[in-house]
Amino acid sequence: MPLLEARDIHLTFGGVVALRGVDFAVERGQLVALVGPNGSGKTSLLNCICGFYKPQKGRIYFNGMDITHKPPHKRAALGIGRTFQTPYIFHGTVLDNIIVGYMTRHGGIINSLRYKAMREARERLRYS
Ligand SMILES: Nc1ncnc2c1ncn2[C@@H]1O[C@H](COP(=O)(O)OP(=O)(O)OP(=O)(O)O)[C@@H](O)[C@H]1O
Ligand SMILES: [Mg+2]
Repeated sequence: MPLLEARDIHLTFGGVVALRGVDFAVERGQLVALVGPNGSGKTSLLNCICGFYKPQKGRIYFNGMDITHKPPHKRAALGIGRTFQTPYIFHGTVLDNIIVGYMTRHGGIINSLRYKAMREARERLRYS
């Protein structure tokens, strides 16, 4: 079973067809690059995978689970992480930025914003 799979993804913005019938499957441990010219839909596809965009048609599966209608924060909790074309980072250290992502999976997004939880996670990561 693929780790991540997209079936027949269609995404349009008004009259602009960004994605037309996109299918792909990525196996666990596979490293995949998505390459294409400007405007070919790479970012749109990533936005569909992480839940920022809702495709008008098609389905996305993660670990065999249909995540098509899951909100972005629930996908993040499953382990779907991303970076943005323009990087958005917090004002803080690199480690703090990583910890917030880590806490999203291991302690909840609200917890990640609490000082004590951040400090504990920082200690855990430092010594692991
Ligand atoms: N939020 C949006 N609203 C309207 N049109 C959009 C939106 N996002 C993307 N598009 C359009 O969808 C098409 C695909 O754009 P997308 O940004 O996904 O391409 P890309 O492959 O990531 O391009 P680049 O290499 O420039 O980053 C383009 O025609 C773009 O103008
Ligand atoms: Mg892009």
